[in-house]
Amino acid sequence: MCGIVASVGNKPCRHVVLQGLSRLEYRGYDSAGFVCIDQNHPYFSFKKEAGGVAPIQRLIETATFDGVIGMGHTRWATHGVVDEDNAHPHFNCKKNIAVVHNGIVEGHDEIRSQLINQGHTFNSSTDSETIAHLVSSLHSEYNDLHATLVALTTRLKGAYALIFLFEQYPDTLIVVRHRSPMVIGIAEQQMLVASDFLAFSDITKDVIFMPDNTFALITKDTIKLFTFDGAPSSYQVTKVDHTHKPLDKEGFEHYMLKEIYEQKRAIARTINFCKIIGSSVELEGTLHNFSSILQQNDALWRQLGLTKDRIKNLRYINLISAGTSWHASRIAQFFFETICKIPTRVYLASEFRYMSFFDEPNSIYLMVSQSGETADTLEALRLLNSFEQQTIAITNVASSTMVREAHGFMLMQAGPEISVASTKAFSTQISLLYWLAHRIGLERGEVGQEQMHHAEEALMLAAEILETSIENYKFKIVQELAPHYATFDRFIFLGRHISYPFAMEAALKLKEISYIFAQCYPAGELKHGPIALVDEKTPVVIFSVLDELIYHKLVSNANEVKARKGHLIVFAFEGQDELINLADCPFVLPRITPLLAPLAMTGLMQFFVYHITRQLGHSIDKPRNLAKSVTVE
Ligand code: F6R
Repeated sequence: MCGIVASVGNKPCRHVVLQGLSRLEYRGYDSAGFVCIDQNHPYFSFKKEAGGVAPIQRLIETATFDGVIGMGHTRWATHGVVDEDNAHPHFNCKKNIAVVHNGIVEGHDEIRSQLINQGHTFNSSTDSETIAHLVSSLHSEYNDLHATLVALTTRLKGAYALIFLFEQYPDTLIVVRHRSPMVIGIAEQQMLVASDFLAFSDITKDVIFMPDNTFALITKDTIKLFTFDGAPSSYQVTKVDHTHKPLDKEGFEHYMLKEIYEQKRAIARTINFCKIIGSSVELEGTLHNFSSILQQNDALWRQLGLTKDRIKNLRYINLISAGTSWHASRIAQFFFETICKIPTRVYLASEFRYMSFFDEPNSIYLMVSQSGETADTLEALRLLNSFEQQTIAITNVASSTMVREAHGFMLMQAGPEISVASTKAFSTQISLLYWLAHRIGLERGEVGQEQMHHAEEALMLAAEILETSIENYKFKIVQELAPHYATFDRFIFLGRHISYPFAMEAALKLKEISYIFAQCYPAGELKHGPIALVDEKTPVVIFSVLDELIYHKLVSNANEVKARKGHLIVFAFEGQDELINLADCPFVLPRITPLLAPLAMTGLMQFFVYHITRQLGHSIDKPRNLAKSVTVE
């Protein structure tokens, strides 16, 4: 899950490569490296650094050498600790072949042992270095680049996007793609390669998304593409209309805080986008009209790769995702089952791929992913495509691999999310899926036109509560609550029904940025074991629901905690006095339609967690050990 950028042209490339790397920091920020072939002598010059977010910046500031061909890498460690030896590029023994790698080589230990037996010496504990030695060994055997690459791709298993530089071929970038994205950019007397075209989007809009299982030999004015069996392959040049816009924090201390505050607007944009999506008619009039226009129009279904008949006959909805997106999917399960009355299942992408698959007719698969690049979700999508299932990407990134590979797509309008901890992607996923559940319900006759309109209004109201509840508690959280709760070492989170996946999301937010241990349970499970953990040193956070029956069950769970001298923090709604009165720390929000209770609580929960972490002084936007986009399995 690393970032790769390379360039070949007739001008020095260091600036372009390092600038590209800084844009790909979201793919990892453990360490970084740059290698080029010097203009003055045909040998490698390189520099690599380890240690948090800073190495890329230091490389930019301190690298002095340059070359007309070069490549860089930003790492998120999978094999081997974070140190300079494990940073990319990696080299063969003679140091005349360099490689940068994104992905994982399966069975690399075996290849490494074989190479060591042949006399190779390794300098790192990465799987990636194996590739440098293997390609070197194969090149000595075949003495031909093309044959070497065919042999290499036969040997290498796993997922990999690779770029090689050989001192022997000083004008050629050698690029290999297997299950990890790679994009080639075509500019004037210059070719660029990167794991995300954002790296060079200010230089060219003409790109080739390298097809899977291909390798390419790229000079400043030629591209030769081959399939893994060595046969020449054609390619398609696509114009991409998207430029990297440098974003600043607009006065906020962290991107996470800025993104928490952007949610109301992001939700409004997402709903409006849903309403006009694919509509081929000129949209005029009130918002109320939009849904009726869409009802006559099947543009939305076409974009999803569906038809009205397919929607009417739908029997199962499946959602597949990871992390925060999985929590949003679990919340959305209640939407599809309650609103459209369609049985809905939610799978963790990393588990789904290894489960038995049962082909159920009239099913659809929604792949929910902020980035559209998460390796587990992408591989689940590919598996489903191979079973000829209907896959639909629900993502925030229009240019993502999932949008290209799924049969249909729908885009949230969160805007770029920079903070590693997801905030506005989560709330816009919930909003989009709530809207979609109503839209499917409308098509199937489960939902009336008026109800559809109310759903859109309720979403806007939830977005309003999301923001105003932060304002209501801002002072108290910053001054009093965050300093107090930052002193605890562990928390328990509880929810029930629709607030259980929300409690999981809250626990994940706390863990990932504050590093405080947080355990989440469905509240009904408390008495089956976890209640043994309850004591005055472990605050218990309960998230309420607006369903009367389930609310009363939650009150019983809160009583169980208090009876054990537990310290209770409660997120509740106006009128829920029984629960509020039990709390040591109550947060009370205005009431909303029950299915949108999690969305309404989202901003306050995130703000509370953000300020606990701020007290602890951690790196909020780039927490330790994490990366924004998880492109390894
Ligand atoms: C947590 C977080 C992650 C992501 C997960 C899936 O704050 O951001 O748990 O939700 O890695 O990423 P996407 O949504 O890009 O597939």
